[in-house]
Amino acid sequence: MLELESHVKLQHFVTVKELHDDQVRALIERAIYFKNGGAIPQFEQPVYVVNMFFENSTRTHCSFEMAERKLGLQIIPFDPAASSVKKGETLYDTLLSLNAIGVNLAIMRHQENEYYKKLIELEPMQKLAIGVVNAGDGSGQHPSQSLLDMMTIYEQFGTFKNIKVAIIGDLSNSRVARSNMQLLKKLGAQVFFAGPSYWYSKEFEEYGEYLEVDKLITQVDVVMLLRVQHERHTKETGFSAVQYHEQYGLTLERYGKMKKDAIIMHPGPINRGVEIASELVEAPKSRFVKQMQNGVYMRMAMLEAVIAGRHLGGL
Ligand code: CP
Repeated sequence: MLELESHVKLQHFVTVKELHDDQVRALIERAIYFKNGGAIPQFEQPVYVVNMFFENSTRTHCSFEMAERKLGLQIIPFDPAASSVKKGETLYDTLLSLNAIGVNLAIMRHQENEYYKKLIELEPMQKLAIGVVNAGDGSGQHPSQSLLDMMTIYEQFGTFKNIKVAIIGDLSNSRVARSNMQLLKKLGAQVFFAGPSYWYSKEFEEYGEYLEVDKLITQVDVVMLLRVQHERHTKETGFSAVQYHEQYGLTLERYGKMKKDAIIMHPGPINRGVEIASELVEAPKSRFVKQMQNGVYMRMAMLEAVIAGRHLGGL
C-alpha cells in the first residue's frame, strides 16, 4: 500500500497559499492512486465528520460526502437552515458544540471571506479541537476545486512546466480563480487572464498577464472558464447573456481556433450559452465531467491529510 507522504499531514485545510509544490504533487499522486483503485486506509478508530454548507453546493458537497463514505468516515448530518446558527449561535460556538459531542472534522462552505480564521487561530484558553476543511469561502479560496483542477491538468499534460492557462470571466468574484492562479504559478505554469476588464484587478498582476480572449484562445493549453456569479454582483453587469457569450464566452467559433491538444475546464455550475456554448459542455476537449470525477479522489486525499495531521482514526 502506498503510504501517505509524510509532508502531507495538516491540522486544517483552508487555503492553497501555504501549500508547497511538493505537497501539491504528493496530493495529486495520492488522488491518482485512489482513482486507480489503490488500497484505502483502514482507520482503527472511527473518525466523525460534519458537512456544513451555508452556501448552496452540488459538486463540492456531494463529492466530499462520497469521499468520506469511500474512506469509511462517520458522517453526522448537519442542516444549516435547521441548526442553532439560525438562532444566532456563532460559527465558533457551533464547532465547539459539535466537537464536544465528538465530531473530529468540519467541512465548511461559508459566504464570508476567511471565515475560518476565527475558528482556527485559537487563543490558548480555547478548547476547540476540530479540523476545518474549507469547501469555499466567499470570493476567497476554494482549495478542493483548485487541487482537483491541478490533478486534471496533470493527468492531461504530465507536467505544469510552461503549460499556458487562460482563466476567463468573473475573476474578481471567483475563489476558484484565486486558488488556481496561486497554485498554477507555484507549479510553474504560465497564467493569463481574460474577460470583462472591470472584473480584472491589480491583485492578479503578480500571477499573469491580462489579454483579449481572442488573442489567448489560439495560444493556450487550458481554457479555464469561470461562472458569471450573478449572486455576488452588487450592480448590473451592463450586458446580456448573449452579449457576454459573444464577447467573452467560448463560442463554437472560438472552440474551432483552440490548439489541437488544448482542453476546456469549468468548475461548475455552468451557465450554458453564457461562459460556454451548450454544445461544448461535453465536447471532446471538455474536461468538465473528468474534473467532477477527480474531485472525489482529490477530496479523499485532502481528508486523509488532515486525519493524519491530527492523528485521528488511530493514525
Ligand atoms: N465547483 C463548485 O464549487 O460547485 P458547487 O458550488 O456545486 O459545489
